[in-house]
Amino acid sequence: MPNIIFYFTGTGNSLKVAKDIAKEVGDTTIWPIGKQHKLSGKYESIGFVYPVYCGGLPAAVERFVKELDIAENKNAYFFAVCTSGAMGGGLSNIKKIIAEKGGKLSYGENIKCFANYICMYPMAKNVDKKAQLQAEATKTAACEIKNRAVKPILRNGLISLFHGGFVKSLKSKDKGFNISIACNSCGICEKVCPVANIKIMDGKPSFGGHCEQCVACIQWCPNQAINYKNKTQNRGRYHHPEITVGDIINGIKL
Ligand SMILES: Cc1cc2nc3c(=O)[nH]c(=O)nc-3n(C[C@H](O)[C@H](O)[C@H](O)COP(=O)(O)O)c2cc1C
Ligand code: SF4
Ligand code: SF4
Repeated sequence: MPNIIFYFTGTGNSLKVAKDIAKEVGDTTIWPIGKQHKLSGKYESIGFVYPVYCGGLPAAVERFVKELDIAENKNAYFFAVCTSGAMGGGLSNIKKIIAEKGGKLSYGENIKCFANYICMYPMAKNVDKKAQLQAEATKTAACEIKNRAVKPILRNGLISLFHGGFVKSLKSKDKGFNISIACNSCGICEKVCPVANIKIMDGKPSFGGHCEQCVACIQWCPNQAINYKNKTQNRGRYHHPEITVGDIINGIKL
């Protein structure tokens, strides 16, 4: 039976993890959360890979998993791998959602990656070192998943106490964006937004009020023309070194 991994990503860390696990496991489709999917037929394993946001699940991931129909696949091997800058989280939430649907999350892991939240802090310089550590940790997780390992799901850290407030604050996040004169209307920001929150209008990005704060638009704009308030102008930009803007826009077929 085939396998499927649903991923959410802003700067490619989670997409790279999903890709590496899929390669190791074999016969695996990787599918972006944000694009509707109806699970039809039976799957051997169903995985979720996503970044930790404020100690918890991205709101878009929570919505997606809640809406996913697993009726035909309750006995599949479910796994979740979150990527984070420092501390894990969001695994106990997804375990609960899957359990409410009659499935069982058998495996949960956190992979430490480059910390990408540019609205909060400057981008560090150790991109390659972090990518290497990410790859090593992913290799271990991928082998465990291939062997259908069962791993206890860790509780969220203390930071998750602020997760509810973070999700509520998303409604007003659009107001923080500003576009500089460096914008050349290329449209990349519209294409990389995982939740279709950006439309190019009169040659400039316009935000639709349902931002997830994934920072993809800020990080992938080739002209560094998107900024958040006055915080990101001098912070450099990051994306995973082995993930291209084309991978984000078109997905990856193995
Ligand atoms: C809105 C936001 C909140 C974040 N919160 C956390 C956090 O609570 N703990 C943490 O370790 N990293 C946090 N990070 C860092 C990301 O989880 C990490 O860099 C992740 O690997 C990014 O994945 P991506 O490249 O697939 O988007 C946050 C990033 C963003 C954009
Ligand atoms: S990606 Fe940057 S340059 Fe391109 S349209 Fe968006 S803001 Fe403008
Ligand atoms: S508007 Fe930008 S930060 Fe918000 S969800 Fe879209 S790409 Fe991510």
